[in-house]
Amino acid sequence: MEPKHFLLALAALALGAALGHAYGRRRPRTDAALADEERLAWLQRLSTIGQMMSGVVHEVRTPLATIILTAEHAQRVLDKGGDPRAQLTAVSREADRAVEILSDILDFAKPAPLDLKPVELAPLLSSSLEALKIRFTERGVDTSFDVPAGIRVKGSERHLQQVLTVLLINALDAMPFGGRLALAAESAGASARVTITDTGVGIEPARLKGLFEPFATGRAEQGGTGLGLNVARWIMNKHGGDVAISSEGIGKGTTVVVTLPAA
Ligand SMILES: Nc1ncnc2c1ncn2[C@@H]1O[C@H](COP(=O)(O)OP(=O)(O)OP(=O)(O)O)[C@@H](O)[C@H]1O
Ligand SMILES: [Mg+2]
Repeated sequence: MEPKHFLLALAALALGAALGHAYGRRRPRTDAALADEERLAWLQRLSTIGQMMSGVVHEVRTPLATIILTAEHAQRVLDKGGDPRAQLTAVSREADRAVEILSDILDFAKPAPLDLKPVELAPLLSSSLEALKIRFTERGVDTSFDVPAGIRVKGSERHLQQVLTVLLINALDAMPFGGRLALAAESAGASARVTITDTGVGIEPARLKGLFEPFATGRAEQGGTGLGLNVARWIMNKHGGDVAISSEGIGKGTTVVVTLPAA
């Protein structure tokens, strides 16, 4: 079984168990009105669990894919008699990230705000790009990085890195035959703006509005789940920021702008 299918099956099992548990507990109720109300609350809880599960599966898949690629790279370096230390460091960093996402599973269900602290943008953006560098290079995508030092925002470093990863992978997915990716940031008064521009397949104007809905994938055949942008918007809203996507149309590339409150 493919790892992705295994994780989805696991999520489905857990959801099934939750359903069975909730149903079993609810059955003795006789008061119809109360039961309806309870049922609604229960359905809402299940929907949250389902969304949380899908979100977690989606997010953990990315560091795991990077780990696989980087381990293979380390092997090639070793075969040539080289020193694979850099690749091994990257593997353990990405594994840490996967563990953090899993430990933080309840963030998706908790109404509690994220722990926001002042974060310097340049190193955060640079490490997000660096983690995916092999994939861009293998794809024939040239990357440029234009983030001045000293831009500080109020954010949760790990969640912002998650958002950046989602957006960079979308750009990568949009450039199957290579292209150019530009990652830039600037201060804009009380906020900061991060811009990710790609020269990829672009987006039809009519599709733009619905892209942040869960499961709104245009890449179902390639294994897309349509959760990336949904997770990204959820995280940005918790930051009091936003993420917006625009494109001149099919074949004309895409620009994504992330807005964040300045620290
Ligand atoms: N940079 C981009 N260029 C072109 N289309 C994009 C870009 N970013 C997003 N899209 C479109 O928006 C859709 C939704 O993106 P989203 O990240 O939510 O899901 P996905 O990439 O399809 O699947 P996954 O869950 O694996 O991320 C994509 O399927 C794609 O059609
Ligand atoms: Mg995506």
